[in-house]
Amino acid sequence: MKESARILWFESLDSTNDEALRRLAQLDNLSVLAAREQTAGRGQRGNRWHAAPGENLTFSLVYKPGFPLPATAAFGISRAAALAVRDYLEHRSVAARIKWPNDIYVRNRKICGMLVENTLQDGLVRASVIGIGLNVNQRAFLPELVNPVSMSLVTGETYAPEAELETLCGFLASALEALADPSGTAEQARRYRASLYRLDERHEYVRCADGARFQARIRDVDENGRLLLENEKGERESFAFKEISFVI
Ligand code: BTN
Repeated sequence: MKESARILWFESLDSTNDEALRRLAQLDNLSVLAAREQTAGRGQRGNRWHAAPGENLTFSLVYKPGFPLPATAAFGISRAAALAVRDYLEHRSVAARIKWPNDIYVRNRKICGMLVENTLQDGLVRASVIGIGLNVNQRAFLPELVNPVSMSLVTGETYAPEAELETLCGFLASALEALADPSGTAEQARRYRASLYRLDERHEYVRCADGARFQARIRDVDENGRLLLENEKGERESFAFKEISFVI
């Protein structure tokens, strides 16, 4: 039988990821810590995550695989979470794509970011804290944020965050459950590729090591989560996160 998520709401936390990591030993699989406000929300690349209190979803879901999940397959967790958010948004009539590795975009605007932090032991993933910031009702954003958007800005509707989190966690629980089955993982890899932002389109990228700009097309993402780009000469090269950035 499918396990379901258990959601705990907090008025204010520094960061739901930090709180989940502090309490990790006591939290069961699919525990969710959600905060109406984060005072020190963390983003990718050491950035802060800003969200207006009470308007959006900021939460962390604890995943403890009930089977031996090799550390080398940890990218599957990020991939499953990104697909679950994309599928939830589609269910809410918001057409979104996955900007590698796990940002969620509506056209050229970011609606959701994720920070997945894995605890590894003896070559296996023991636990994963999947931190998700989804812009739900917020309509005005800090000017320094480059390209934010929210569900409300896309649909014109106002949502009840608690109810939306229940629904979204259903999508996340199903996607994570599928990781126990190799055919479920293979299907997610196929659907993830098909959902990629800018798949097969020609765009500009920046190589972080030397700042070089070049035109390329996204062709795939491998099992380790590396982005496979093909340049104008038909040469292919793969990049880890932080080795490449998109020009948007
Ligand atoms: C990104 O930079 O795109 C990742 C943003 C992740 C933000 C979420 S909000 C809930 C969870 N707690 C955090 O401190 N960060 C993640």
